Amino acid sequence: MKKNIAIFISGRGSNMEAIAEQTRNGILRDVCNVAVVFSNRPSAEGLKTAGAFGVPTECIPSAGKEREAFDREVLERMKFYRPDYIVLAGYMRLLSPRFVRAYRRRIINIHPADSRFYQGLEGYAWAFRENLPRTCITVHYVDEGMDTGEIIEQRELDIRGMESLEEVERAGLALEHRMYSEVLKKVIERDSKNV
Ligand code: GRF
Repeated sequence: MKKNIAIFISGRGSNMEAIAEQTRNGILRDVCNVAVVFSNRPSAEGLKTAGAFGVPTECIPSAGKEREAFDREVLERMKFYRPDYIVLAGYMRLLSPRFVRAYRRRIINIHPADSRFYQGLEGYAWAFRENLPRTCITVHYVDEGMDTGEIIEQRELDIRGMESLEEVERAGLALEHRMYSEVLKKVIERDSKNV
């Protein structure tokens, strides 16, 4: 049986779009549906993209709200969509312990660096600044910390010879877009076998 996923975004939403495409015509077609794209920012460009795709969208602005109270609202809203997984894709908020408990091992994030060595924003800028020959992309379960959850899979990105941060970001995002759907497929199929 296909699973429902909710994709959480705060901005551009290019990973969301790549995943949504794979659920339509690609490797996620028999694996999951995008039940909803949720944003905490009304101005998130990805909301428009999702709408154009025909995927339901929801937004609850988080600005000025206390974390626990905001997450309670989001949890309540999610009851309507009944997601099996929460897929974070550029969602710029830490989740409260209550939220993490509600979906334990069912919240997944993509981080544009090796989460063992670098957490937080601007993972590509970090790798570029440090002059690393290679960096990696991490897909991990989400816990209460920032990019601290158990690693599901990492893929290496060779950035030798790249001359600008834009070049690193372009190559990194292309890898993210392929990798995220592939890892989601693995996780969902593995979980379905283990039930
Ligand atoms: C990606 O680099 C992702 O790894 C990070 O935030 C960025 C989101 O980009 N968590 P997009 O909104 O998916 O285009």
